[in-house]
Amino acid sequence: MIKQDFLPINGTDYVEFYVGNAKQAAHYYQSAFGFQPLAYRGLETGDKEKTSYVLRQGKVTFVFSSSLVPDSEIAQHCNLHGDGVKYIALWVDDATKSFNETTKRGGKVYLEPKAYKDNSGEVVISGIHTYGETIHLFVERKNYNGIFLPGFIPWNPVYKSEEVGFKFVDHMVGNVGWGEMNTWAKFYQDVMGFEQLISFDDKDISTEYSALMSKVMANNNMRIKFPINEPAKGKKKSQIEEYIDFYKGPGVQHVALATDNIIHTVGELRRRGVEFLYVPDTYYDSVGQRVGIIDENLDLLKKLNILIDRDEEGYLLQIFTKPVEDRPTVFYEIIQRKGALSFGKGNFKALFESIEREQERRGTL
Ligand code: FE2
Repeated sequence: MIKQDFLPINGTDYVEFYVGNAKQAAHYYQSAFGFQPLAYRGLETGDKEKTSYVLRQGKVTFVFSSSLVPDSEIAQHCNLHGDGVKYIALWVDDATKSFNETTKRGGKVYLEPKAYKDNSGEVVISGIHTYGETIHLFVERKNYNGIFLPGFIPWNPVYKSEEVGFKFVDHMVGNVGWGEMNTWAKFYQDVMGFEQLISFDDKDISTEYSALMSKVMANNNMRIKFPINEPAKGKKKSQIEEYIDFYKGPGVQHVALATDNIIHTVGELRRRGVEFLYVPDTYYDSVGQRVGIIDENLDLLKKLNILIDRDEEGYLLQIFTKPVEDRPTVFYEIIQRKGALSFGKGNFKALFESIEREQERRGTL
């Protein structure tokens, strides 16, 4: 029997970050990550409380929003969490149906379906709560041909940077508290109709000190993949616990951006000052045996510190940035899939030892 998909999703519509200084964040994502300016709203468009910059690269759309007043929802969010992801907006054909289907299955109401209009047409947006203060919006834009959303104007600054090759959001990971992974995996299953793709327990993902558990939830067409992590007991503090301590609760841990030329992408990012987790050269001594023949030059991968893993379907190349804000919270993964559908389990040990070295330096291990 074919299971009916009650929540068809076309893809990630956009990711909105609440940040302390959107103007500077937007410049960083332009200059360091190669995003292109797209749209803006703020004082000049009649917004008295909030400024937003919209940037795009490939199918990845990021929005950076800051408060213009001291006591707004954005200001409170930044005060508590630091810079972080507020909205994971999903592109749907019917935002009203998406809202009805998820809320009748227990989704907590954030925004009743609402039509936003301007001269370019109409966008309908609805929303439900997920872990922490994070929100899933359902965005229906089939009757809209404007630049981004009603209320925004084109943003065309003099400064432009070259793209680095990001194509789309591969997956977005949520960190939740002790014992909460199953609750949220069930939320994605029951409320949003997702299926569990993979699960890792602390035996898969532990080093001498820190451990975590993870379940990967995916929607019907696999365009949306949300791994959910919870901390696990180790000798010292789990990296997930460190995140939750600093973020003051559950939230988005990392956004994985897909490229089809990771050597070019990472070379560019490094040149522009993006900092990555370091794995020792010894990682590359045994990687050939583990992953077999690959298309890329291993010396180049080693030089750029790119990791490799293989599963039944193929292999993947990946690398992780350090957190991109002062609190050790949100970071990025750059990923190139060459057939593999998994998440780099074979790299976990090397990666976590690397994260622990960073935790040690921060005094949070
Ligand atoms: Fe990831």
